[in-house]
Amino acid sequence: MMTQDPRREIPFGRPILGEAEKAAVAEVLSGHMLTHGPRCAEFEKRFAERVGAKHAVTTSSCTTALHLALLAHGVGPGDEVIVPAETHVATGHVVEHCGARPVFVDVDRATGNIGAAAISEAITARTKAVMPVHYLGLPCDMDAIRAIADPAGLAVIEDCALALGADYGGRHPGAIGAAGCFSFYPAKHITTMEGGMLVTNDDGIEWTVRKQRAFGYDKGLGERSKPGIYDVVMLGYNFRMSEAQAAVGLCQLDRLDGFLAARECNAAALLAGLADIDEVFTFPVELGRARSSHYCVNAVLRTDDALERGAVVEHLKGAGIGTSVHYPVPVPLTAYYRERYGHADADFPVARWISDNAISLPVGPHLDEEDMTVIADSLKEAIAACRH
Ligand SMILES: Cc1ncc(COP(=O)(O)O)c(C=O)c1O
Repeated sequence: MMTQDPRREIPFGRPILGEAEKAAVAEVLSGHMLTHGPRCAEFEKRFAERVGAKHAVTTSSCTTALHLALLAHGVGPGDEVIVPAETHVATGHVVEHCGARPVFVDVDRATGNIGAAAISEAITARTKAVMPVHYLGLPCDMDAIRAIADPAGLAVIEDCALALGADYGGRHPGAIGAAGCFSFYPAKHITTMEGGMLVTNDDGIEWTVRKQRAFGYDKGLGERSKPGIYDVVMLGYNFRMSEAQAAVGLCQLDRLDGFLAARECNAAALLAGLADIDEVFTFPVELGRARSSHYCVNAVLRTDDALERGAVVEHLKGAGIGTSVHYPVPVPLTAYYRERYGHADADFPVARWISDNAISLPVGPHLDEEDMTVIADSLKEAIAACRH
């Protein structure tokens, strides 16, 4: 018998959008500037300030930001880019889209992050860049990674999709490497529905990304002396954000501190609740100079023949608790990459362990500490009920 109210719904993610966001979108819709206008510019300015980067460029998603970052660093056919095996498929796909090869390395068992030693072993004469992914929001050991990457001349492109609000020795992830890319997909720390942001301290990279994001036009709308007249200086894309999205993003930035405080509080409560469950391993939320942005808490189950993750997840679902898996298959072991490069399970034992055993539990600001107690108690009950 479950002890909590079975009607209590605890979704994995639920964006918090209020009157301010609605009014901001209504204002955009009642004007004439629907895309690449002043709200995108303002969102970029405020985001850059927030993360302590010189530049920020709005994009249509984190994926397109990552793609533009690689292109701006000259990644193309014949190149290799080092990518952690345990990430969203977007991190691998953008390398493929550039015509380069993603070289996947296994992640660290203690954190789920890519480590400097694994990067060092994977470097060849063809390596052009490395893409640290701050797994679940805990920054990678950026000092150690840069100590390997910088002398080797590798661009460090940070995948910060889950890391908004994290901290690395007083610096924000994304502003540490050559470029950092953020996601504003609904379950993330802030949302613009779809959307992303690229940050960089490099003027040249910013220029290239801005141009390539918008068809490769030489002049943006506001820079044209003669209306409608432009030239095209490179092969570009349309990876822009709309004004309505940026308007929502600005409102969400105002709420970010509150969201982060709630996440931290929830994560602490949930980790305390999980601490006495022998069957559960959790990753640290602080380590050395790194402090997490608390995207979610992964409960990695010590599964065996008598305890299956699927059954536990089903049980939690029955109790109204939404969960996820970050990520369900290590990227190199997905059908596409397995077929393309012939990877084997044995090449990525830690990523395989996480993908097979992790349950991502919610700590978002749509939830409170009482919800965390319900989650921890329900997980205990689920493990007891599912053991056979
Ligand atoms: C680590 C990581 N990188 C990239 C992405 C892709 O982000 P987007 O949906 O904004 O393209 C995700 C999505 O969750 C992610 O988890």
